[in-house]
Amino acid sequence: MTDQTTPDDLAPSPAFSAHANGTADLYAQADADFEGFWARQARERLTWAKDFDQTLDWSNAPFAKWFVGGQLNVAYNCVDRHVEAGNGDRVAIHFEAEGGDDFGSRALTYADLQREVSQAANTLESLGVTAGDRVAIYLPMIPEAIVAMLACARIGAPHSLVFGGFSSEALKARIEDAAAKVVITADGQYRRGKALPLKPAVDQALNGVESVEHVLVVRRTGGEVAWNERDLWWHETVETAADTHTPQPMDAEHPLFILYTSGTTGRPKGILHTTGGYLLQSAYTNSIVHDLHPETDVYWCTADIGWVTGHSYIVYGPLANGATQVVYEGTPDTPHNGRWWEIVEKYKVTILYTAPTAIRTCMKWGHEIPEKYDLSSIRVLGSVGEPINPEAWRWYREYIGAGTAPVVDTWWQTETGAIMISPLPGVTTLEPGSAQRPIPGVSAEILDDEGTPTHDPESVGYLVLTKPWPSMLRTVWGDDDRYRETYWSRFGPKYYFAGDGAKYDEKGNIWILGRVDDVMNVSGHRLSTAEIESALVLHDRVAEAAVVGATDETTGQAVVAFVILRQGASHEGDDNTAIVEELRAHVAKEIGPIAKPRTIMVVPELPKTRSGKIMRRLLRDLAEGREVGDATTLADSSVMNVIQAGLGN
Ligand code: PRX
Repeated sequence: MTDQTTPDDLAPSPAFSAHANGTADLYAQADADFEGFWARQARERLTWAKDFDQTLDWSNAPFAKWFVGGQLNVAYNCVDRHVEAGNGDRVAIHFEAEGGDDFGSRALTYADLQREVSQAANTLESLGVTAGDRVAIYLPMIPEAIVAMLACARIGAPHSLVFGGFSSEALKARIEDAAAKVVITADGQYRRGKALPLKPAVDQALNGVESVEHVLVVRRTGGEVAWNERDLWWHETVETAADTHTPQPMDAEHPLFILYTSGTTGRPKGILHTTGGYLLQSAYTNSIVHDLHPETDVYWCTADIGWVTGHSYIVYGPLANGATQVVYEGTPDTPHNGRWWEIVEKYKVTILYTAPTAIRTCMKWGHEIPEKYDLSSIRVLGSVGEPINPEAWRWYREYIGAGTAPVVDTWWQTETGAIMISPLPGVTTLEPGSAQRPIPGVSAEILDDEGTPTHDPESVGYLVLTKPWPSMLRTVWGDDDRYRETYWSRFGPKYYFAGDGAKYDEKGNIWILGRVDDVMNVSGHRLSTAEIESALVLHDRVAEAAVVGATDETTGQAVVAFVILRQGASHEGDDNTAIVEELRAHVAKEIGPIAKPRTIMVVPELPKTRSGKIMRRLLRDLAEGREVGDATTLADSSVMNVIQAGLGN
C-alpha cells in the first residue's frame, strides 16, 4: 500500500468526470437561485400528480413546508413509474441471504416489486390502516422490509422502523410513542449462521399496549412461534392479496416516516420526515454523490434498514432513481471474513456505501482477504456515520477501490434525512478524512462560542446549517417544543445546530470532529449517555451511573460506564466481575446489545460540579487512560483521587 497519495491522484479522472451526474455548475446554479434550484430538481427528478405552487414556505420557521400544494405518491415514484417507463424487467433488488442461495437469495425486478408492494398495500388497507395511521416495522434485512415500507408509503401510513437489534423494551417505547396500529415483524432472523427469534420481543413489547390491532408476521426462519388472536401470517395475507393497487397522491408535506434517534436525554426522539422534500433530496444525493447510473450500476449500501442510511440509501433514494442494488441479510463475517467481497464479486457491485467502523474491522482482518476477490467492478466508494480517519480512508481506496475509485465521505444525520456535506466524485479533489464541503443547495457554517461564523483554519467550532433544506426533519413527533429547543435554540433561530464540532483546514475543507453533546457514536450507531444511564439506574443494585464515550480504535467510540453500587451491593475484596456482567446484560435487555457498555467501572463516587452536574470530561480522561485534566470546578476536589485509588490507577 502506498502511504502517500499525491494530490494529482486525488483529483477526479477526466474519464470519470465526463460521465458524472454531479457537475461543478450545480454549485453556481444553487448559489444564484436557491429556491429555483430546488424547484427545478424537484420537477426533473420526481413525478408529481399535482405540481407545487410554492417551493418553500419558511414563514413559520423553524417549521418548514417544501413544495407547497404539490402532490405525489412515493411508492409510485420508487416503483410504478419505472415499470411504466418499460423497466419492469430491471432487477431492483438482488437479495443475498446470509446463508446464501439455499436460504432464499432471490432477485426482485421492478415489476415484482410493484406486485408485492400492491399486495402489501391491499393487505394493510384490509386491516383498516388508512392515511396517517402509524405502522411499526421490526424486521431483519429481508426484501419484505422494503416491501412493507413502500406499502406504507403507498397508502400514506407513516412507518416507524425499529432496528432488529433493539430490545423489546426499546421497541415498546417506540410503538407507544407513535401509537402504532399495526406491527410488521418476522418469526425470527438469521444472525451469524443462527436462527434467532424475533417475534417474542414483539409479543413482550405489546403487553399492555392498546393501540396495536394487528401483528403481521413474515416467516423467515420457520421456528415455532407463539400465536395471538391479533397475529396474521404475511404469506397467508399479503401473498394471497390482489397484486394491483392504485396509489393515491399524497400532499408533499404528508408524513412519510418517523425514525427514533438518541438525543441528549433518556427519551429517544421521533424524527419526522415528510413526502416530497425527503424523497427529492435522497434521490438527488444518491445521483450526484454516489453517481448512480441506473442503467449500468450495481449499487450496494451495507446499512441496516432500521437506520436512516437504510431508509434514504437503500429504499427511497436508489429506488426513486430506478437503481439495481444488492441487499444483504447478514454480517460481514458470516460464514467467513471475505463474505462482503464475495458478494461484490458475485454481483459485480460498482458503488459501495459503508461505514468507517466496518472498514476498520476489515483492515484489522487484513488486506489479504479482499485481495482474494475480483473487486474490479467497483468505481465509487462511500463512507457514512462517523468521521473516517485518513488511514482507513486510504486503505479503503487502495484495497477496495484499486487505488483509483473516488471515496466520498458523506456527513449527514437522521435529522437531515439525506447527505449534506460531501465531495462530488466527478468534481472535487479529495482530501482523505474530510467531508469537504456542502453539496449544491446546502449551506453550512462553523460558529465560534459566541455564535459568530469562523473561517480560520484549524479553529474548532460548532457545525450549523444556515438554510432550510428539502429533506430536513419537520419536527420531533408529538413534541414541537423539543424540536425547536434541540435544534434551533443554541444558535437560533437562524441556525440549525447539528450537535457536531467541526473545523476548516487551510484549503477550506470541512473536518467533522464528532459530537459536542452527550451523544455517542459507537460503530456508527447513535447512543445517548443519558439513555444508558437511565437503564443502569433501573437496576436495583445501582445507586448512580455516569456514561461516557471513550475513543476506540475499531468502533470509533465505546460505551464506558461508571457506577456507584447501593450499600451492601459490593463487598470488601469482591472484584465485582459478577455484577459488572449482570449490568452489561441488563443494559442489553433494556436497550439492546448495541448499547452494552464495553467497560463498567464500579466506583465509590462520581465527579460533580457544585451544581451537581457530572463532569464527563474527567471520566473520559479516566476511560481513555489519560492523565486527569483540570478538576478545580469539582464540588469536592478529592473525588478524583478516591476514584483513581479505587480503580487502582
Ligand atoms: O456525529 C455525526 C456522525 O453521525 C451523527 C448522525 O448520526 P445518525 O443520525 O445516527 O446518522 C448516521 C447516518 C447518517 C452526526 O451528527 N456522522 C455521520 N456521518 C459522518 C459523521 N461524522 C463524521 N463524518 C461523517 N461522514
